[in-house]
Amino acid sequence: MEQSRIRNFCIIAHINHGKSTLADRFLGLTETIPLTKLTEQYLDSNPIERERGITIKLAPVRMIYGNFVLNMIDTPGHIDFSYEVSRSLAACEGAILLVDAIEGIQAQTVSNFWLAEKEGLKIIPVINKIDLEGTQIEKTKRGLVETFGLLGRDILLCSAKTGEGVKEVLEKVVLEIPSPRGNPEALFRALVFNSFFHPYKGIVVSVKVVDGELEAGTPICFKASGARAKAGEVGFFTPELKSQKVLKTGEVGYIATGLKGVTSCRVGDTVISDQSWGFSPTALPGYKEPKPMVFFSFFPQENKDFLLLQISLEKLKLNDASLNFIVESSPILGKGFRVGFLGVLHAEVTQERLEREFGVNLIVTSPNVQYQIRKTDGEEILVKSAVSFPPINQIKEIKEPIFEVKIFCPEGEIDKVVKLCQARRGLVMDINPVIEESMTDQLVLTVYIPLAELIVNFYDELKSISHGFASLDYEFLRFEPVNLAFVEILLNGKTVGPLSFLCLKTEVLRKARDFVWKLRSIIPRQQFEVVIQAVVKNKIIAKEVIKPFRKDVTQKLYGGDQTRKDKLLKKQRKGKKRLKKVGSVVLPQEAFLTILKVN
Ligand code: GTP
Repeated sequence: MEQSRIRNFCIIAHINHGKSTLADRFLGLTETIPLTKLTEQYLDSNPIERERGITIKLAPVRMIYGNFVLNMIDTPGHIDFSYEVSRSLAACEGAILLVDAIEGIQAQTVSNFWLAEKEGLKIIPVINKIDLEGTQIEKTKRGLVETFGLLGRDILLCSAKTGEGVKEVLEKVVLEIPSPRGNPEALFRALVFNSFFHPYKGIVVSVKVVDGELEAGTPICFKASGARAKAGEVGFFTPELKSQKVLKTGEVGYIATGLKGVTSCRVGDTVISDQSWGFSPTALPGYKEPKPMVFFSFFPQENKDFLLLQISLEKLKLNDASLNFIVESSPILGKGFRVGFLGVLHAEVTQERLEREFGVNLIVTSPNVQYQIRKTDGEEILVKSAVSFPPINQIKEIKEPIFEVKIFCPEGEIDKVVKLCQARRGLVMDINPVIEESMTDQLVLTVYIPLAELIVNFYDELKSISHGFASLDYEFLRFEPVNLAFVEILLNGKTVGPLSFLCLKTEVLRKARDFVWKLRSIIPRQQFEVVIQAVVKNKIIAKEVIKPFRKDVTQKLYGGDQTRKDKLLKKQRKGKKRLKKVGSVVLPQEAFLTILKVN
């Protein structure tokens, strides 16, 4: 396809503003997918995306519209997946900024707009869901004009649900988004914006060709990793892989490398033709490495599965470059990994993917943030979990990460939001209208809040008290001193590291008692007595006892109905699947995350 007839664009928006639904309409309009096959949110192909109704992965697709080729990338809206958005933007010349006609401008509308603006993309603003009752179209328009300096007449209206106005959006993509620049005569150079593992094709990289062209069968080389391979197959996303002879300048497509080593093709790397290696075209700018914010420990339920977990994490990293992990050993849980995530939802989704896509059964321990510790000998260290804290007498000072959070919320909800922030040790720095001197009733709060408070259901609570209308965006601000205590949890006299936790000294008694009490109701009765103790500096501050009990699930069955007995025993075995033996005590997975439920 002629370069001047290519349009590369993505759809960006706040979560649930309708990106995937608009993508569906485009797939239908361009007859990329026959209407009979077009299920809702077609590009959300991962079962987890379908069940949760959210996009977690960027998804590229090539569409033909008249004489034009449109390469579209659907992106996630949740803040935990913003790294996916930034990578998509680098492969495009334009972006559709979609805004819900009822919710109006939200936190990720703002952050995604500025990301796209920084990349120099042509932005097409579109107000979606105009079919709904109670829309605030004029107000949203004014918001877009005043917040981003857009022109009112450039803002399109559509309903991704009914299809109204969708054709006009696509027409504007063709008319206003520039075709990709790049020199077709130059040596081949492409940006890797995604990668995944294919059982037969090896590592497949998603690329945007910046200069030159690449024919299938050509030797290639990755500039940063130095890995060499042959472009076994090249092609486009339809969204399935469709092989082609050649990938040309400006096109978005894939290269099957046949490589197996997961570190050889990094997202953000530049791939060049190996024949041009001697001349070495300069590497493309790539991406800023995402910084993990929240750390969980993942242990295989059976110690023998450690290698499976390692291979699975490495394969997943290919597809999720923001994943970070290091080996961690626990005397109780064996060998596992300390895994860094961009947020709690990111962690939940990763856990589900590991279990479903790779068949690894996991024991996951409660999340931690990274603390900065100054030891008495002057050494400064960063610690990511309660168990790796140095002995208390060696600690001079502990500092915790503080984040600057921007919360968008309607004026009527402000009191509740401020209360929530204060209850979570947040310092409200200022409250302003989203747009100065405007009639809109959206306010933006700037709050300094410890990350440890942010990761424990803050987002869910904010959504619930604001009836779904508040949204937030955050970034790291600085480390600040904090007065923490280390609460050791003992089961029958033995310390269980993965259950032990850190908390504010002022809250230690309440939290320890509540935690021990909750553990008592979660840990099943065993054939012997189980004593649970919380200990701070060798002093017991809370204690509960679980009486022994021999549970025979078949005891209430009379007569000899063996099939029913078998069924019950099978059910009981299944229930045991997520149990971990710690010493002689059997703990359910739930126990390791109970600290999240402590008030
Ligand atoms: P994430 O990828 O998770 O950020 O969501 P998204 O932006 O892709 O939103 P999605 O397309 O999943 O739509 C969210 C919800 O809004 C779904 O229930 C859609 O059916 C609905 N929706 C999307 N567009 C419209 C519209 O124009 N009108 C109406 N009434 N509903 C819409």
